[in-house]
Amino acid sequence: MIIAIDGPAGSGKSTVARMLAERLGFRYLDTGAMYRALTWKAMQENINLTDENALCRLMEQTSIEFQRKDENLLVFVDGVNITEEIRLPSVTNNVHYISDTPGVRHRMVKLQQKLASEGNTVAEGRDMGTVVFPQAEKKFFLDADIAERARRRYGEFKLPEKKFSYDDIIKDMEIRDRRDTTRNNSPLIKSSDAIYINTTKLTSEDVVNLILKEIRCVMKK
Ligand code: DC
Repeated sequence: MIIAIDGPAGSGKSTVARMLAERLGFRYLDTGAMYRALTWKAMQENINLTDENALCRLMEQTSIEFQRKDENLLVFVDGVNITEEIRLPSVTNNVHYISDTPGVRHRMVKLQQKLASEGNTVAEGRDMGTVVFPQAEKKFFLDADIAERARRRYGEFKLPEKKFSYDDIIKDMEIRDRRDTTRNNSPLIKSSDAIYINTTKLTSEDVVNLILKEIRCVMKK
């Protein structure tokens, strides 16, 4: 069974997907982390982030794996744990080059489908319900007001990153939203059969419970 969760940055989908996977005993597939992982490696190797051929070659030569540790999901590139590195602002600022490269997306989608074929999965990203798992048993689109999404993102920042103001985060989020929704390749859109949940006034626990209610109906069938 595949549960697809899509939505913009800060909509709460990562926390919700992780909690949901834990409750159901499903795997958790964080596809944003995969684009971040390849971005990190391309930056390490000084690859031109606009060179599609070089990025596709890199993707072919790179192993991206996940490992569950307690409630965290560890990300490994070629066997090296880079869970923290992929959240650095430098990676966040450059990941759009990688996620907007058609050849990379094509390979990434295949890898995501392979990983999900290994067992029941909660898959989270931007194109789960539309492109990667159109056959998913249940699809959700999480959203929230931009002010609330920015507030959540600001709360996640560690001390050195607090040099960014709340207004900086809002501006950054507007740019990311525009990039995600207007890019040519697999833009962020709600799949017509996805259930829309506005999480602005909800806790992660509320959202997980709402989703579980919907899923139980499918499981009973
Ligand atoms: O969810 P996130 O912030 O970790 O995602 C990192 C970037 O990857 C984000 O800019 C959007 C992109 N992404 C994507 O294009 N497709 C996905 N399925 C997941 C993420």
